[in-house]
Amino acid sequence: MIHSMRQSTLETLGLGSVLEIFRNGRLPVDAGKLVNRVFGEPGKRGSLVVSGANGIVGAGKVMQLGSRLEPYGVRVVGLDFPDAPDGIGKQYPGLVRAFGPEGAARIMTNVVRMSYDGKNLPAELEGFRPRYLLEAIPEILDIKKAHYDLFRKAFPGIEIRSVTSGFPSAELGVGIAHPAFPHEINKVWEIVESEPSPITQLHWALGMIPIPVSDHWSFVLDVQFCGLTLAGTRYHHATNMPFWKIDKYLRQLVGPNPFRAHDAIGAAGANFLTWSCLHHLSQRYGALFEPTPELVEHKDSGQNWYPLDHFRPLVDWRLDGNEAEEELRGWILGSLIQMTSLTLHEQRGHLAHVNAIGELCAQFRRGILAVIRDLGPDSAINAVGSYHRLHPEAAEKAWYPAVFEGMEGHDWQQLYVNAEHDGTTGVITISRESYNADVDRELNRAIDWLRAEGIANVIVTGDFHLSTQMVGADTSEFFPALADASEGARVAGTWSKTARRLNDDFEVSVGFINGKRCLGGMLELMMHCHYLVAANGTTLGMPEVTLPVVPGMEGCHWPFRKAGSEHWPKLLNLLLSGRSIKAEDAAAWLIDHAGTLDESLKVVWSLATGGDSGVARRKVEAGALKGVPTEVGGLPAAGGPATDAARKAIMGSIQGSCGATLAEALEVQTRHSAEFMTTPECRKGRVGAEYARTVVK
Ligand SMILES: NC(=O)c1ccc[n+]([C@@H]2O[C@H](COP(=O)([O-])OP(=O)(O)OC[C@H]3O[C@@H](n4cnc5c(N)ncnc54)[C@H](O)[C@@H]3O)[C@@H](O)[C@H]2O)c1
Repeated sequence: MIHSMRQSTLETLGLGSVLEIFRNGRLPVDAGKLVNRVFGEPGKRGSLVVSGANGIVGAGKVMQLGSRLEPYGVRVVGLDFPDAPDGIGKQYPGLVRAFGPEGAARIMTNVVRMSYDGKNLPAELEGFRPRYLLEAIPEILDIKKAHYDLFRKAFPGIEIRSVTSGFPSAELGVGIAHPAFPHEINKVWEIVESEPSPITQLHWALGMIPIPVSDHWSFVLDVQFCGLTLAGTRYHHATNMPFWKIDKYLRQLVGPNPFRAHDAIGAAGANFLTWSCLHHLSQRYGALFEPTPELVEHKDSGQNWYPLDHFRPLVDWRLDGNEAEEELRGWILGSLIQMTSLTLHEQRGHLAHVNAIGELCAQFRRGILAVIRDLGPDSAINAVGSYHRLHPEAAEKAWYPAVFEGMEGHDWQQLYVNAEHDGTTGVITISRESYNADVDRELNRAIDWLRAEGIANVIVTGDFHLSTQMVGADTSEFFPALADASEGARVAGTWSKTARRLNDDFEVSVGFINGKRCLGGMLELMMHCHYLVAANGTTLGMPEVTLPVVPGMEGCHWPFRKAGSEHWPKLLNLLLSGRSIKAEDAAAWLIDHAGTLDESLKVVWSLATGGDSGVARRKVEAGALKGVPTEVGGLPAAGGPATDAARKAIMGSIQGSCGATLAEALEVQTRHSAEFMTTPECRKGRVGAEYARTVVK
């Protein structure tokens, strides 16, 4: 029996819990077997058809799915009208960048392009044995339905999924796989099905992120993203502030700049899709979603939201005073919170999903539920009240304040970190790629919960679903630290203390890294586990020097305390060059074991359950270290004074914290990290630039 703080998101895909992955020593499903189920056995293998293959979605998905299915010998047929502009061809340079010229040519050789008139399917199609149709044709209900009829008549039993932006599955009569922009690289698909199908599980097994959502008009992403766009146009309507300036405030308030995004996607198509989602939502939920005249005008004309750069007025627009700021918050945050209340009331998705979708697909700095959780129920409800004073019609429908009552429960409290256990062994999963204050608090709660449940052995890992890599600290957390060293010390000190709990609070802790990479703060966190295991091919690194910042989660001394002095030059090189290495080159000095995925899963389980893994535990030296070199050979040229300064500061932190006892070192490295953040080199670097771009008005 597995107990968990809340349902693992993997379970929503019918793939079981994360703990079972370790217990079984393998992933819950196998891509090859699923390919056989969906497309047929080799020899009788059928094909994937993408209709609308030259469109924005179709061309992207031909690339994304084509590159993943080619190794399995699944042909991809791209179907479109004869006069459709060559959307697939436009994607080719990107494919070359990702796979090299030979790889790109191989993938494209596997793609067959066909034209037809929309009414009669090409005769040759039958030879490709279509098994799965991904429909990506225009957002017009009748046209989509006629298209399915055509395919079903020709190929009874074919599986069909629509990429529709907003039509429910019940209207279309097919399942939905709604993808997020940019389509060739974004891995998220919102899925509507009665139960998780082999197609959805195949998407997962091929490295994508399917997210089940309920069958309502428009899906979670579009309620948030189109909703935010609408809120921006309403604010424009009320104040006449230009859209580009509203974007700046939206970026500061929540993260996205929706007007620029519409222009980047292609205003003509994107304006229509946004309008279409909102129009259908407003028919059911009233004024909350009613498109403004400006939105209708942009839908009709297809015009961009941003004026050309040289037409931007020199006179800046500013919000004058608290009242104006309050009004902006009311229009934007208030309406977003009300829309979220509808999403929750209708149970449109797992809370971790509803929260993650905005971050993964719409550039929300923090998911909307994390934002609302910070406000707390009263402030959230008050923000909607402010909005209703500005827009009273919206109060008439689709407002469910009661959904915020359950905020103290694990579903709300564990949006990014979950914990599971089987009575003896625990698993902590982190679903956010970058570490921030939310993750930090949730990780502490997960540790508290496992301890309260009497669990002494724990595995710490990604969630095998939403997080496909661990990229490091969320640098937006450092913004306040640029001006105030005590803020930097607070962040570094708090996070380091959390990381130490992985060492101090369990008898055995095992970190497991798979996916693309584990870098910076996330690697520092994971190295606090008694054992660190990584799957071959995973990239590990400490890129702080390139930002530049000084590692503040004990990366400057912890790994030195665990490695023999013969390995110290390699650690220095890692920290001072910022270059990454592969897991298989890191065993015995940075991590404890690297192996194939299945083998490392077994090693992790064996370590966590006291089995015979053959991997020895490395001790953390608690005394001051002597003889850590002050010079490093083989570093690439610094290339600028900022890197020089960062290298000096990192070396200072290494010497200071390694030269201290373990007990003192936390404070020493915290100080070094915090002090560097207030220097001109850091403020002029990536963190400072990001701060100027997103926060400074
Ligand atoms: N644009 C986005 O970012 C986005 C995001 C998510 C979902 N969607 C959805 O994707 C679908 C397509 O949108 P798009 O933005 O890619 O549109 P698009 O206009 O770029 O592409 C549509 C393509 O379909 C082709 N087409 C039209 N009728 C056809 C038919 N009967 N058979 C085969 N091909 C046909 C067109 O020639 C065109 O190449 C819509 O349902 C939309 O809601 C779009």
